[in-house]
Amino acid sequence: MVAWTWSYEGYAPEAERLREALCALGNGYFVTRGAATEASPGPAHYPGTYVAGCYNRLVSTVAGRRIDNEELVNLPNWLPLRYRMRPVDAAPGPWLSPDHPQLAEHRQTLDLRHGTLTRWSVYEDGEGRRLSVEQCRLVHMGDPHLAALRTSFTAAGWAGEVEVVTGIDGDVRNAGVARYRDLENRHLTDWYTGSELDDTLWLRCRTNDSDIRVALAARTRTDCGVTAPGAGAPRADLTPQRAFHTLTLPVEPGSTVVVDKTVALYTSRDQAIGNPLDAAVDAVRRAPDHPRLLASHHRAWKHLWHQAKLDVPGESGLFLRLHIFHVLQTLSPHTAELDVGVPARGLHGEAYRGHVFWDELFVLPFLNLHFPEVSRALLGYRYRRLPSACRAASEAGRAGAMYPWQSAGDGREETQQFHLNPRSGRWLPDHSRLQHHVGSAVAYNVWQYCQASGDTTFLHTKGAEMLLQIARFWAAGATWDTDLGRYRIRGVVGPDEYHDAYPGAKEPGLDDNAYTNVTAAWVLMRALDLCRILPEARRQQLFERIQLAPDEPERWGEIAHRLHVPYHQGIISQFAGYADLAELDWEEYRTRYGDIRRLDRILEAEGDTVNRYQASKQADVLMLGYLFPPAELAAVFRQLGYAVDDDVWRATVDYYLHRTSHGSTLSALVHAWVLARARRADAWEYCEEALTGDAADVQGGTTAEGIHLGAMAGTLDLVQRGLTGLEAHEHTLWLDPAPLPQLSKFRVRLRYGPHWDVDLRIRARRVRIAVPESDTTAVRVRLRGRSYSVAPGTTRWLDLT
Ligand code: BGC
Repeated sequence: MVAWTWSYEGYAPEAERLREALCALGNGYFVTRGAATEASPGPAHYPGTYVAGCYNRLVSTVAGRRIDNEELVNLPNWLPLRYRMRPVDAAPGPWLSPDHPQLAEHRQTLDLRHGTLTRWSVYEDGEGRRLSVEQCRLVHMGDPHLAALRTSFTAAGWAGEVEVVTGIDGDVRNAGVARYRDLENRHLTDWYTGSELDDTLWLRCRTNDSDIRVALAARTRTDCGVTAPGAGAPRADLTPQRAFHTLTLPVEPGSTVVVDKTVALYTSRDQAIGNPLDAAVDAVRRAPDHPRLLASHHRAWKHLWHQAKLDVPGESGLFLRLHIFHVLQTLSPHTAELDVGVPARGLHGEAYRGHVFWDELFVLPFLNLHFPEVSRALLGYRYRRLPSACRAASEAGRAGAMYPWQSAGDGREETQQFHLNPRSGRWLPDHSRLQHHVGSAVAYNVWQYCQASGDTTFLHTKGAEMLLQIARFWAAGATWDTDLGRYRIRGVVGPDEYHDAYPGAKEPGLDDNAYTNVTAAWVLMRALDLCRILPEARRQQLFERIQLAPDEPERWGEIAHRLHVPYHQGIISQFAGYADLAELDWEEYRTRYGDIRRLDRILEAEGDTVNRYQASKQADVLMLGYLFPPAELAAVFRQLGYAVDDDVWRATVDYYLHRTSHGSTLSALVHAWVLARARRADAWEYCEEALTGDAADVQGGTTAEGIHLGAMAGTLDLVQRGLTGLEAHEHTLWLDPAPLPQLSKFRVRLRYGPHWDVDLRIRARRVRIAVPESDTTAVRVRLRGRSYSVAPGTTRWLDLT
């Protein structure tokens, strides 16, 4: 049995921010970090609440330069709930929190199945008076605007009152990432607060640039006869930025009193509301009591788990469950109603400012086979920003669409111009915006989603438009090199962000990044496929709409066959000239620094630059083996006029394996995926690192600033597609299993094409496929060169040997 709970025993202030990120609760609309309700924000505590897509732009001056910065906004904190003992026969005790010396016991448990976080604390004063506090919270998965917090107090060895102060705090800033401390961080303005009906408080405010209005309402009820405040009259304390209630609850030894706080959160981005404040106040007024809210929340999670089923036995299974949990809290079916992208760090913290990178490449494949409507909506986010990408291309003197490396509100390039090296304290130019390969990721996602879902409507309309414009961008950027007799794409940065320029070069950018060129060739071919398969009327309409010249597709075909891919020593070069870079003395650096994941920062702090060395941050060339199954990889290279057989690929894998520092969580994941086929004995080490990446915070403290959504979702897909070799086409499931000894048994439920709930199990040497009776057509399977058909209502075992 795989556990459904994720627990921490005891209180550890130094680990608290990490636990806040890992115990965050959310529903795809908003996420709240698992912060203590009773502690003030400080080094150990960073309460944060983030609504998907709620960004704001601020201008800062850093090191004498103007920095324009759009980030996901930390919204008013709905968690505060402080308490203290007021014994009848003594003066009131101190306000209690895990940081107080009176803490005697503490533990917390995230219930993954039910989507709740429960915290237990026991406090004891010097006179033997004990107060046990159990607190259970939820962010509602059924109604995305609601959250609830039930706190139960039990007194032992004393009688008197528990004094509780609870409310909403609007005096918040974006201060969750130390590296950003020099940036402006006050995003909210125009606060108003109020109270209604004795038990309800509200706060409204707006973001100061994007002008998003935000409203929260909190209803507080107790089970001891007091609606909200006090045995006497309610006491609301309102300041413009804060709305609080004070309650005094009578307690006897051994008795328990309960305080229920129900919260609603709306913004002016929401649909079907009059205004956010009325919507929030109405929502808490109508919200059922805590047990009924909890029951409907459980039901919503039950349905999600059914659709997201991925069962793996043992400890790996628990990590995978934690990953599914956080993926679904960031991107749930509610996301399908929103105009949002895939935030690289979830909605769990402020790292990378809530921006959207290419990471959806690692997230959509999982969603495609469980929640295709969510994938479609996330692609919709890209489609709505296509005009912006086309403007960016045109400003760069190119045709087509140049998607930004970092995207947020309106789709303009949000990558910072400078970033801070915390090791040297220096602000350095940031050229990561040259990662134009993000466009290929968008195109790949369109294609994959349409393949798995069979959504030809999307493919023929929005999907085609994006794909064609991205292809056009690549064609416009490819230049003919007579000496080479090939097309080249120059001045880019590949997935390995350590290399952004040639040593000593005045201008940033590298030539012929293999990943960029091969994916560009793939995109061009898919664009040509589309031109062939689009219904005639639609093709004409689309060509007219994007004003595609009749000779453009022909040029695409030519480029797709003649893009340059550099090689050295019989292996694929990461970019032209990679082989000329110096070799790094890895052992020496490991001995000197221990953790050398962020080799770029180490070398820069030493006055050197990683650009001089054959040292990569993450998988770059090897990403090709992540995107393309072996046969397709060979075919793409063949189309380009190169041969990549098993030997070349294995030699390439070996080469980069020894020259990569894994400074991104995506790196271990991609290596696990690629090695599972190319060097099985070594795959597990990377797989384990990918599975434990966030739980063990392997990137040295970064998880506290937000989970790594790409790596989390990627591990799910590693099992689902990587180890099964699964390619879901609308009409056929292709399988080519390569289970690892440590991950040789698992079960996944798939939705693809017209099929819901296809049950796929892998057991060492056998595959079992069960198709529900409700399906109308048989599932066709291709395995080891043979075809099978599994009829609705039947189960079939297939041998892998
Ligand atoms: C990685 C990128 C990734 C970004 C956001 C960086 O550290 O190098 O590939 O897109 O993090 O997750």
